[in-house]
Amino acid sequence: MTETVSPSAAAHFSEARSAQVVIDSLANTTDPRLKVVLSSLVNHLHAFVKDVEPTQQEWQHAIDFLTQVGHKCDDTRQEFVLLSDVLGVSMLVDAVNNRRRGTVTDSTVLGPFHMVDSPPRPLGADISLDGNGERCVFAGQVRSADGHALPGAVVDVWQANGAGFYDVQQPELQPERNLRGLFTSDDQGRFWLRTVIPRYYPIPDDGPVGRLLRATNRHPYRPAHIHVIAGADGHHPVTTHVFLAGSPYLDSDAVFGVKESLVRPVRMIDDALRAEHYSVVNPFPLIEFDVILEPVSAAPT
Ligand SMILES: [Fe+2]
Repeated sequence: MTETVSPSAAAHFSEARSAQVVIDSLANTTDPRLKVVLSSLVNHLHAFVKDVEPTQQEWQHAIDFLTQVGHKCDDTRQEFVLLSDVLGVSMLVDAVNNRRRGTVTDSTVLGPFHMVDSPPRPLGADISLDGNGERCVFAGQVRSADGHALPGAVVDVWQANGAGFYDVQQPELQPERNLRGLFTSDDQGRFWLRTVIPRYYPIPDDGPVGRLLRATNRHPYRPAHIHVIAGADGHHPVTTHVFLAGSPYLDSDAVFGVKESLVRPVRMIDDALRAEHYSVVNPFPLIEFDVILEPVSAAPT
């Protein structure tokens, strides 16, 4: 007859040792990164619970909230990205992944509206398919950190219209792929396109994240901006925005995405030759945004 050995008291769950007991259960995790991530998650979650001491009802409320966040997601709505955004987590993940920047273009959040692929369009194309907004030109040059132009760079652009809505928010009103385009820079690294001046807008607040904002007396607005992802051979791509100077909410972006280096004016240009080059009526509003990319070789290991 074999003797039954009681598990040591140290293996039992207790309030005092809760995190360590769970972390010990991860000992056989074969993926070392997963082990690190889960162990840290357990440590922080347990510390959070010990700090807050939620009631059972509050804990159930939290579960219900996350369930509602999941249920709100579909092919064109990403409520988890919104939740991450309004809690500043998206910007923090961006920050810890882009510490090496220096003189290159700052990054910011991807946001929840890059839900569909931008269609390739020729330089100079008009991406405003619904014509909702004041016409303008968006132009810039993609360069490497040492200043040399980057021909063949790919510039992905998407934005809201003059009423502050993206195509995926108004499938009944806006044509598919409205205000989206994938452009390839010319032999001098330049890109240009016709569009409309985007309006500031509220992030979608008809779901659980909106209720969270209202419960904390926060507004849901983002200042006017155009999204850009730019990439070129041998360079780190950058996911960023250009924010429009003078827009409301530049100082209180609901997702904390504004960086001073990314704010640009909308300038009225009176130049017949440039107007002809861009195929617009003179004078015209212009938003200029040069993108500086970091060579891969310059990145620290
Ligand atoms: Fe946006």
